[in-house]
Amino acid sequence: MKKIAIMTAGGDCCGLNSVIKAVVMSATNKGIKVIGIMDGYIGFVEKRYKELTKHDVYDIEKEGGTILGSSNKECPFHYPVKDKKDEYEDRVEESINALRKIGVEGMIIVGGDGTLDSARVINEAGMPVIGIPKTIDNDMSASDPTIGFETAVENSVQAIRKLKSTAYSHRRVMVVEIMGRTSGYLTLYSGFAAGADIILLPEQDYDLEVVCNEVKKIMESGKRYVIIAASEACKEKGKEETIARIVTDSFEQKRYGGIAAKLAFQIEEKTGYEARPMVLGHLQRGGEANTADILLGARLGNYAVNLLADDKTGYIIGAKESTLIKTRFPKTREPRLLDLEDNDICRAAKGMGISFGI
Ligand code: F6P
Repeated sequence: MKKIAIMTAGGDCCGLNSVIKAVVMSATNKGIKVIGIMDGYIGFVEKRYKELTKHDVYDIEKEGGTILGSSNKECPFHYPVKDKKDEYEDRVEESINALRKIGVEGMIIVGGDGTLDSARVINEAGMPVIGIPKTIDNDMSASDPTIGFETAVENSVQAIRKLKSTAYSHRRVMVVEIMGRTSGYLTLYSGFAAGADIILLPEQDYDLEVVCNEVKKIMESGKRYVIIAASEACKEKGKEETIARIVTDSFEQKRYGGIAAKLAFQIEEKTGYEARPMVLGHLQRGGEANTADILLGARLGNYAVNLLADDKTGYIIGAKESTLIKTRFPKTREPRLLDLEDNDICRAAKGMGISFGI
């Protein structure tokens, strides 16, 4: 291959710039030119391209976000028709042809499960693709962890630690809402590492009475505060998830939000202890990439270029411990959920008496 394109799509996270740097530098070393597609599938369809050289990527690896921009809802085979509300069309073929016209022979697409489902369609339509999984949610079976997860855990841990001093001063319950959609990895790992007292996960509905009794028990034991790490999609037994908004033209339509406010109010009412909500939100996705995400991004970026150069395409690549792996694009999009019975951190948390609200 003489020319390839790289694109980042879906919710951003740390480590994306490390992938871009590794792709540009590895490809350049092989004499392959790299085109950056701007703003995810918007740029793919609207033909927003930018040639990338080594000079564009020096020192970008630690910066959060993506120098190429991203979009979180557009789908190239279900793309909004201009000026026509609720009308969509398939723009894949035409977009592939436009890239071919400028000499692009293969693509590296970095994204979550929605993005990589479109990557599979593009690959099947004849443009060779390598997909690289990224998401702070860590909910993709192609890689464990996914790019962005480690930094998001670190960001959440730092934030929860900062809350402890104010919680201590005021003898309060702090309910911290953590992202991750339907997967509890980010909440479990950051809650556990930050020393949360109660961890509420989407994989297991909580019992409000149990949560309130645990709060009382902790406060009565002499500890001055309680930290509850609550996954944004966790819910009380028999109740619905707390949805902030529905983004109708998105891959994942639900945007969770509001559980911390709801729970803090209920806990204060039922226990008499003051409770405050804290939504970590998009802070978890930002800041500088940590070293783990820089390394993972670089390893996968380099691997993707090597596979494309060897004409081995149609794969999602990822890492499992220290090994790089490749699997075929899946036909279905099932988020990887936490297996509560088979997860060491879950076991350690339970063993240490941390409550899961059940
Ligand atoms: O999938 C990544 C993620 O950050 C989720 O954890 C969160 O629920 C969602 O994206 C937020 O989406 P948006 O950026 O559209 O608000």
